[in-house]
Amino acid sequence: MRETTMRVAVTRKLPDPIEARLKSLFDATLSEAETPLPQPALIDLARDHQILAATLGDALDADFFRKAGDKLKLIANFGAGVDHIDIAAAAAHGVTVTNTPSVLAEDAADMAMALMLAVPRRLVSGVRALEDGEFKGWSPNWMLGRRVRGKRLGIVGLGRVGQAIATRARGFGLAIHYHNRQPINPHIEEALQATYWPTFDAMLPNIDILSISCPSTPETRHLLSAGRISRLSRDAYVVNVSRGDIIDEDALAAAIESGRLAGAGLDVFEREPEPHAKLLASPNVVLTPHMASSTVESRNEMGERVLINIKMFADGHKPPDRIIPGLD
Ligand code: DGY
Repeated sequence: MRETTMRVAVTRKLPDPIEARLKSLFDATLSEAETPLPQPALIDLARDHQILAATLGDALDADFFRKAGDKLKLIANFGAGVDHIDIAAAAAHGVTVTNTPSVLAEDAADMAMALMLAVPRRLVSGVRALEDGEFKGWSPNWMLGRRVRGKRLGIVGLGRVGQAIATRARGFGLAIHYHNRQPINPHIEEALQATYWPTFDAMLPNIDILSISCPSTPETRHLLSAGRISRLSRDAYVVNVSRGDIIDEDALAAAIESGRLAGAGLDVFEREPEPHAKLLASPNVVLTPHMASSTVESRNEMGERVLINIKMFADGHKPPDRIIPGLD
């Protein structure tokens, strides 16, 4: 059978049930690594396997594909974002790339919502003040934040994650605005009572909270630039559960430090794993360590998608979650 000859290498420690299934289905080389492999080790793995189950942090760039040899045929990414993979270079070397869309959207949306509540309501400052013994009893002026209900939420990238955020936000009494390249299906737009803005620039002055859920691509790098931050209201907040490089972090930090912007809740950073020092120190910023999809359920379901994509490919079919070059 075809799959028994397929050699699968995993670049990072995956959930136990997924590893067990990989072992039972394929000739699988597992990994104990919790951090990305050094590049030479990654290339060695690729040279010796047809399939690489890779993940965020693996630098699968043009140089990798040049050096990986011609055995490698599939990269089954454990994760939705594929900005660490040069999709055009993969295609040029005859390598199919898949990801794990959908399964983590609800958990990512929970994290966006948590940040959207935590920043205006000063959740982390409150916890810290209590832990530091600063709570002397209720007081009319202590720990004042800003009300969430009634605010206008602008979502850039109203895809699976963005729509899951919008659904939650409606429950919290937020009005939904969005910017995509194209408007979404009118039925979904109507259900969310969402207002479409054909340009990102036009949406910015008309919202109170900006939530970023578009993919990181060369076009979206520093999408939230200094110029665009200045279009937001001084009372606005920014939330990001997508990729850090969509925001110019230096510009964001400067705007928050100067009072030009109210605050931010970020699960992703421009130079991961290093958080921006000024953002880390700011009382108006909540940073979480890229953990939006960190639930047992999401991680197992991401693993299931990896298994399905590999199995379909090994059986000679097109795997369901293919990234199509040019549409990624
Ligand atoms: C993804 O899937 O790309 C997340 O950022 C990591 O889970």
